[in-house]
Amino acid sequence: MNVGVAGLRFGMSWAQIFAAYSETDLLAVCDVGAKRRDLARAQLEPDAIYDSLEALIADDRLDAVAIFTPAPLHAQQVIAAIQAGKHVLSAVPAAMTLDEAKQLAEVVSSSDRTYMMAENWVHEPVVARAVQLYREGTLGQVYYAEAEYYHGLQQLRRRQDGRPTWRNSLQPLLYPTHGTAPYLHMTGDRLAEVMASGASGRSDRADGYQADWIQTAMFRGEQGALFRLSNSFQNVHAASHLLIFHGDEGSLETGRFDQARTVCYYSSGDEEDVRREVCEHPELPQFGGELAGDHGRTSMQIVMAFVQAAATGSAPPVDIMLALDMTLPGIVGLQSIRSGNWEQVPDPRSWT
Ligand SMILES: NC(=O)c1ccc[n+]([C@@H]2O[C@H](COP(=O)([O-])OP(=O)(O)OC[C@H]3O[C@@H](n4cnc5c(N)ncnc54)[C@H](O)[C@@H]3O)[C@@H](O)[C@H]2O)c1
Repeated sequence: MNVGVAGLRFGMSWAQIFAAYSETDLLAVCDVGAKRRDLARAQLEPDAIYDSLEALIADDRLDAVAIFTPAPLHAQQVIAAIQAGKHVLSAVPAAMTLDEAKQLAEVVSSSDRTYMMAENWVHEPVVARAVQLYREGTLGQVYYAEAEYYHGLQQLRRRQDGRPTWRNSLQPLLYPTHGTAPYLHMTGDRLAEVMASGASGRSDRADGYQADWIQTAMFRGEQGALFRLSNSFQNVHAASHLLIFHGDEGSLETGRFDQARTVCYYSSGDEEDVRREVCEHPELPQFGGELAGDHGRTSMQIVMAFVQAAATGSAPPVDIMLALDMTLPGIVGLQSIRSGNWEQVPDPRSWT
């Protein structure tokens, strides 16, 4: 499969994985920034380097493109790529408004091209273990869950010339998928309604940041469960993920900080008996050893699943409907902050 990658900051690690994978050839890359293109030229030596997505998707040799551009561009760029006949792997989130989400759902659903959202929290070792315990029945029915995602990204909010990037005004709930993905992937539930609120520290400490420091949403799932999500990109607290699942047979919590992806604690039945387990990625010899990048092995599993789905026409693990089920609760959560009311999260299946 011939692949092109758009957006060469986080996207560089994906380009390296496509270049290393035995089933794909990294043929082309694109970025609007000349420095990023130069770096990619030096490190990856792809056949073609473009300065726009339009030029990339016009390359007839490409079967698929991976889009790792700023989040506000994803939906429109994915639509353009699908319409150009490419299979698309999209960075999270899928969309940032209900209007573009609806358009995206319509275009992807009426195409035979594969769409997959690259959500790593479906493949993190702790989540894979939680899913296994859930499927074995160890947790029973999950009636309450929590997810926290605190990731201060102050250094990515301004360009070198001081102009703000999209992250300087990113409302935390518009980036919900790292928190929503594990619960939704595990249970098959859909978050149907939301009440949310936000808070900030003192404005003279915000350094020009134009969003709430933290936003917390309470969701009610279609299966009756409560789910709380807290997101912050202005945390003074160290970066951390946390997942908690309470089932009627057992419960599971992940570790924190550097143990968030690999350590879980679970109990079943007897509340005194809490087990600590270190969870590991599967071996992935198809990639010929370790690769650089923040998310290494989760990205490899995503690439393998994407290529498999595109090659066979089967459903990818995070298809357009699940991607929107992971994304829309945050968009509607922001609406709830503004209205002060519980808001209904649309079912994207009703749009197509
Ligand atoms: N764990 C994760 O899943 C994870 C982690 C980091 C980033 N992300 C997502 O990946 C995406 C990229 O993240 P990032 O940190 O690299 O963002 P970024 O804004 O730092 O970099 C984006 C890159 O895209 C380029 N770009 C901008 N507009 C473009 C266009 N129209 N066409 C082609 N290239 C363009 C920029 O020059 C830049 O090099 C974001 O949507 C982010 O949400 C996901």
